[in-house]
Amino acid sequence: MRRQMIAGNWKMNKTLAEAGDFLKELQELEPKQPARVVVCAPYLSLPMLAEESAPPVEICAQNVHFAPSGAYTGEVSFEMLKDIGVHLSIIGHSERREYFNETDESLNKKVQAAINEEFEVILCCGEKLEEREADRQFEVVENQLRADLAGVAADDMYLINIAYEPVWAIGTGRTASAEDAQAMCQHIRQLLVDLFDETVADETTILYGGSVKPDNIAELMAMKDIDGALVGGASLQPESFKQLLDYEAK
Ligand code: 13P
Repeated sequence: MRRQMIAGNWKMNKTLAEAGDFLKELQELEPKQPARVVVCAPYLSLPMLAEESAPPVEICAQNVHFAPSGAYTGEVSFEMLKDIGVHLSIIGHSERREYFNETDESLNKKVQAAINEEFEVILCCGEKLEEREADRQFEVVENQLRADLAGVAADDMYLINIAYEPVWAIGTGRTASAEDAQAMCQHIRQLLVDLFDETVADETTILYGGSVKPDNIAELMAMKDIDGALVGGASLQPESFKQLLDYEAK
């Protein structure tokens, strides 16, 4: 059975002290829902968070480089993350695609490296506003995932979670309707049947991200193919993160 996941992506927010205070509050919570509780923090806070966190909270990086080591100024490797006790990273977030020139080619290398390192990732995909307006969203997301997952074996897909984040819904307050989000997550699951098999499609966790808030998470989580949420703004305050974790299942 695939597991649900609610992941807060702090992006470039919170000092070390702020991250520590947040974790203390989060750790006191006994979430009502069985979902994995994931905090995606900036690199500088990861060692402290990995050291101080306890189940059900899991700590996640926001990016990682594909090479094991070398002349890649400013980058961090899978091995370095594992060394501090972090075994999960976002890759391919649209902000990295847009502002840092992340390509599907480099993402495929990251996916391959993650598999070699037995490291779990949250692989992001999603169309831009002009692509949705041209009704090209399914094609765009499918092309991204086909390229990102090229050469991956079905047996290794247990390391890959997929997050559908339409770019026009990120930080805009404009959430995709639950039906539109479901339609894309269903499309992605069908793609997994085509690329791999029914078992992989059934067992892969697919998240939705883009203006998820305490007041819309229940509706999104009620959708058949949405297994979780990747949340930016609403994950920055402990109170609203707690509300996300305690949504009333519909
Ligand atoms: P918001 O929840 O702020 O729209 O951000 C979504 C996101 O990009 C999570 O990775």
